[in-house]
Amino acid sequence: MRRNVVVSVLALALTVFMGVSVAAAGEVEVLHWWTSGGEARSVAVLKDLLEKEGHTWKDFAVAGGGGDTAMTVLRSRAVAGNPPTAAQVKGPQIQQWGDEGVLADLSGVAKAEKWDEILPKVVADVMKYKGKYVAVPVNVHRINWMWVNPEVFRKAGAKVPNTWAEFEEAAGKIRAAGFIPVAFGGQDWQESTVFESIVIGVGGADFYRKAMVQADPAALSSPTMVKAFERLRSIKKYTDKNAPGRDWNLATAMVIKGEAGMQFMGDWAKGEFTAAGKTPGVDYLALPFPETSEYFLFNVDSFIMFKQKDKGARDAQDAMARLILQPKFQEVFNINKGSIPVRLGMARGPFDEPAQRSMSDFVATAASGGLVPSMAHEMAVFPEIRGAIFDVVTNFYNSDMSPAEAAKKLAAEVKAAR
Ligand code: GAL
Repeated sequence: MRRNVVVSVLALALTVFMGVSVAAAGEVEVLHWWTSGGEARSVAVLKDLLEKEGHTWKDFAVAGGGGDTAMTVLRSRAVAGNPPTAAQVKGPQIQQWGDEGVLADLSGVAKAEKWDEILPKVVADVMKYKGKYVAVPVNVHRINWMWVNPEVFRKAGAKVPNTWAEFEEAAGKIRAAGFIPVAFGGQDWQESTVFESIVIGVGGADFYRKAMVQADPAALSSPTMVKAFERLRSIKKYTDKNAPGRDWNLATAMVIKGEAGMQFMGDWAKGEFTAAGKTPGVDYLALPFPETSEYFLFNVDSFIMFKQKDKGARDAQDAMARLILQPKFQEVFNINKGSIPVRLGMARGPFDEPAQRSMSDFVATAASGGLVPSMAHEMAVFPEIRGAIFDVVTNFYNSDMSPAEAAKKLAAEVKAAR
């Protein structure tokens, strides 16, 4: 016993002498927008794991689906020289924060945890600034989903749609039976979330890339885009009068409660069904957005970390980054969140049928060219261009602007935003 104590004291002295530091407990203040039922359950998993390692979690939740409010708050904190320790920031915006010179270098933990081996290269590249990891990815969400209440469809005698014509037919029957066909949240990011699924359905993956990733004026003003606007307009007649301003999770609740037949939303909606104790294939159906089964609009959540002077805070950041990519967290978090793991080689068994389908489709669409980044969820273009697209889509949806005029405006406003 005594001998052991001496040995460990010696080991400690040696560690200090060699400059190897022992991890210190610290606080992480984490900015995120995960405030719905399913989202809150998911983020709690990370908080618990960090607290088990002795760190303190200071929650900095800014409500607002899609995260635009959170990003505004983050910018003002950063301008004031007081950014949080970690923040939910995604896609090309990571490079913009890198340019500011404020991000912590996560190379140490990335090397120790072999991130280059456990992450798909396309994802890893987005997480690096000038070759060094500055962000940690959490999950992969798919945008182009349709969430269905089968009971409502049954009562209305409607068939679950695969094509646009079938959608219109089913929606008409559901309305005639006294239900709301489409549970819709009238907020700009939700309108654009639906719109980008329409765009890929109408134009295919190459067209989507030209329009929503390269922001090519010819694609943006094309007849294909006019047709996409026509479809967006046609959804409106199947929504209820309380749709404007409605949060996405309240729209999901309408499907869960059987007030509405379906919702078009990314698979964070599944987190709401899961939190409500619902079973896929029984209480609800998760199917591709009409005419998009061969495409996968992806959305990867990630956290950036800001440089810290305090060693405890740095150690807490490293712990958070390490825990996020560990298999246990990847499993439990993504089951709650409705997404699939971003870590490669995870066992599929614990995941439900829609998640397993998503995993298969992710691989299949990566091979076929049908895997494309979500514009609405910050994977594809810089915020200025995304903002211009959102403006045109929401102005169109909430006015009587013609589809032809909307396509023309889209090309013009995107050009001005460049
Ligand atoms: C997305 C985000 C998802 C989900 C959704 C609704 O942008 O990637 O994780 O939270 O917003 O808030």
